Amino acid sequence: MSNLELSERIISVRAKDGSTATDAPAWTAEIDNPYLHGVYSPSTVETEADNLKVIRGKIPDDLHGAYLRNGPNPVFKPRFNHHPFDGDGMLYGIYFKDGKASYRNRWIQTEAHIKEADKGESIWPGVMGPFDFDLPGFPIKDTSNTDVMYFNDHIVSLWYNAGTPYKVDTQTLETKGRENLNGQLKRALSAHSKVDPEKDELVFFDYFDEFPYMSYGIADKNGNVIHEQDIELPGPRLPHDIGVSQNFVILHDCPFFHDVELLEKTKKRVMTFHRDMPTRFGVQPRYGNGSEVKWFDCEPCYILHVVNCWEEGDWVVQVGCRSTNPMPKADPEDGNLSHMLAYMRLEANMYVWKFNMKTGEVIEGDIDSLNTEFCRSNPLYMGYKSQYSYNQYIMTKEDDNTGTLAFGALVKYDIDSGEYQRYDYGDGVFGSEAPYCPKQGATRNDAEDDGYVTTFVVDSNDWSSSCLIFDAKNITQGPICTIELPHRLPFGFHSNWVRGEDIWK
Ligand SMILES: [Fe+2]
Repeated sequence: MSNLELSERIISVRAKDGSTATDAPAWTAEIDNPYLHGVYSPSTVETEADNLKVIRGKIPDDLHGAYLRNGPNPVFKPRFNHHPFDGDGMLYGIYFKDGKASYRNRWIQTEAHIKEADKGESIWPGVMGPFDFDLPGFPIKDTSNTDVMYFNDHIVSLWYNAGTPYKVDTQTLETKGRENLNGQLKRALSAHSKVDPEKDELVFFDYFDEFPYMSYGIADKNGNVIHEQDIELPGPRLPHDIGVSQNFVILHDCPFFHDVELLEKTKKRVMTFHRDMPTRFGVQPRYGNGSEVKWFDCEPCYILHVVNCWEEGDWVVQVGCRSTNPMPKADPEDGNLSHMLAYMRLEANMYVWKFNMKTGEVIEGDIDSLNTEFCRSNPLYMGYKSQYSYNQYIMTKEDDNTGTLAFGALVKYDIDSGEYQRYDYGDGVFGSEAPYCPKQGATRNDAEDDGYVTTFVVDSNDWSSSCLIFDAKNITQGPICTIELPHRLPFGFHSNWVRGEDIWK
């Protein structure tokens, strides 16, 4: 094996017994980048299996549907420096029906993925550039590797840079082409566009480097665009999420962005956190128009993910995870990967913002200080006041020898009190974003936490992967069921619960 000094120093390439993940593509051994080794090793496996082995406990009979996770899984050796955001999107799904579980995983057949497969090598650069504006589509590879949701009879995969959404079969995970909203999608669609389960509509947003810099819209359950508008921002931004309450949407303008002139000159997108600028939230009626946006100035920060939003009289409330240091100091010892590694050392904590639509007043503050992100809540409560959030604890350098993004524990927050329950996955075991899974037939009349939470874990001690099912009421007791998965799952991004009624129609 080549000298992988940086990777060895930052995270162990080998497990404690000296073994390595043998299913990784051979080219990874040539690249010294911690996000291509250990738990981040790409997998070459596409597989499916029925009647999965239950290692512990019992699969609940009323768990009816699928836990789907998206994530980066690069096929070919990258042309330039590899960023963990770059890998080709792969969907991993575990399906629960009648107390049994099945599994399958497949790459998303994006246009870039198909073109690169035809050529047998990488064509597009990744997030770290150099951006190639002569390439078709986006100047970096649109991998569709970030988010996953169910909409209009299909699974839809999304990319965080606002890219092309892809439709995927609910059962086979076969890619069915672009989701272009019946030909009415004018541009791209960002990850964290979301489906309101009560109104059965897709609330979507897009952002770009040209005026007006952001757009927002709504599609009905059949995929027809029923509302669209431009959102004028002061310049190009990289908003990551959008807040949705029953009657309002909350648009994000965070002071963590890039300089377009510099990007054009250097072909690299350099992110700067402007600590002297406020974070602005644009609150407007869901079907409003650009002139109805009410902007609120808040403390400077960056926000990746919103937990939930709701209304309390004249107030619109947003709960999410906030970072006041989105670009931690780079360690020069990390060489040309130092900025990427620093950026990926995510620092965030649970936070609440309240916006008074009559007076313009803002109240904001911490809910708790623990380093958590990838926060999820009961989807049936979307837009309504909710009490619980299920977050991933982000490991810090102090926890382990890792300086990479890793989820060490599942944390259930009581938003009202800031208290939490916590379950640590174990030494060398890392989790995935864990969505709340309502019981079959559940409604908002049922208790908010009378359901399940699921996650995929990878155990670097033996490179096994499993699915854990938790009783949402009691996270601390650990999983009520552990299911063996047929192969090692690499680190992933977002996940979602899809109802059985939507999968098996
Ligand atoms: Fe995200």
